[in-house]
Amino acid sequence: MSASTERGREPAIRVQGIEKSYKELHVLRGVDFEVAPGSIFALLGSNGAGKTTVVKILSTLLRADAGAASVHGFDVATQPANVRESISLTGQFAAVDEILTGRENLILVARLRHLEDPGQIADDLLARFSLTDAGGRKAATYSGGMRRRLDIAMSLIGDPPIIFLDEPTTGLDPQARIEVWDAVKKLAQSGTTVLLTTQYLDEAEQLADRIAILHEGRIIVNGTLAELKALLPPAKVEYIEKQPTLEDVFFAVVGSDGAAGRAGDKTSNPVGTDA
Ligand SMILES: Nc1ncnc2c1ncn2[C@@H]1O[C@H](COP(=O)(O)OP(=O)(O)O)[C@@H](O)[C@H]1O
Ligand SMILES: [Mg+2]
Repeated sequence: MSASTERGREPAIRVQGIEKSYKELHVLRGVDFEVAPGSIFALLGSNGAGKTTVVKILSTLLRADAGAASVHGFDVATQPANVRESISLTGQFAAVDEILTGRENLILVARLRHLEDPGQIADDLLARFSLTDAGGRKAATYSGGMRRRLDIAMSLIGDPPIIFLDEPTTGLDPQARIEVWDAVKKLAQSGTTVLLTTQYLDEAEQLADRIAILHEGRIIVNGTLAELKALLPPAKVEYIEKQPTLEDVFFAVVGSDGAAGRAGDKTSNPVGTDA
């Protein structure tokens, strides 16, 4: 049996007992989770929970102090080059060159990766992310959602089986968020494994096959949306039946102290915010 078929049955990402401190700040205190191939997994947590730290460790930008992690069957500590070949990472701040057109940005990345027919690769990705009409325009003229979609498209060049999206919609307006969500859903439909981090409950609810809540250095809950909702007592029947939302579950397991945001605030649902 070949190594690749063997690998197909393993989790795309496996994280076991990962710990990480920045000096005295013990950010990750034993993080465990697995991500199935071709699924969308949301790592949900407040600002400062350690989401980016997890992503940096999995993408080999940072070394864990303890524990083990593998990505696409490769150990992040001992096989970092193999891990990097298997992933792409899109951060909160888009790596798009404003001076170039969308198409030129894509061609540039394809050339840097020494791929054949960069023009065709660019056109295919523009079509996939509904950017064909905008492809000839400078990226500087793009809306936030278009720019983020272009950024995700750029990160897909070379067909990495696993993509990390670190807060893909933070700072976007509602319409742009929906555009990015559609792009992420299409990604998973095409077989790419997606690990995304978010502080938005509705984002996890919309996109993820599984949701893990990172809180005080550990994964305190991990399951499907239905499993998470089942953690709460059955819905009470008053005048209408109210099913628990992910927000109810989140505040039930995390507690409604200041760090996790205000449970009573229904006007917006970031778990925590810089502002
Ligand atoms: N390089 C660093 N040096 C010191 N502290 C850091 C560093 N990177 C992150 N931190 C701290 O670690 C905690 C977790 O950060 P981070 O992983 O970025 O959280 P999140 O992405 O969930 O907002 C925060 O308190 C942050 O201030
Ligand atoms: Mg972060």
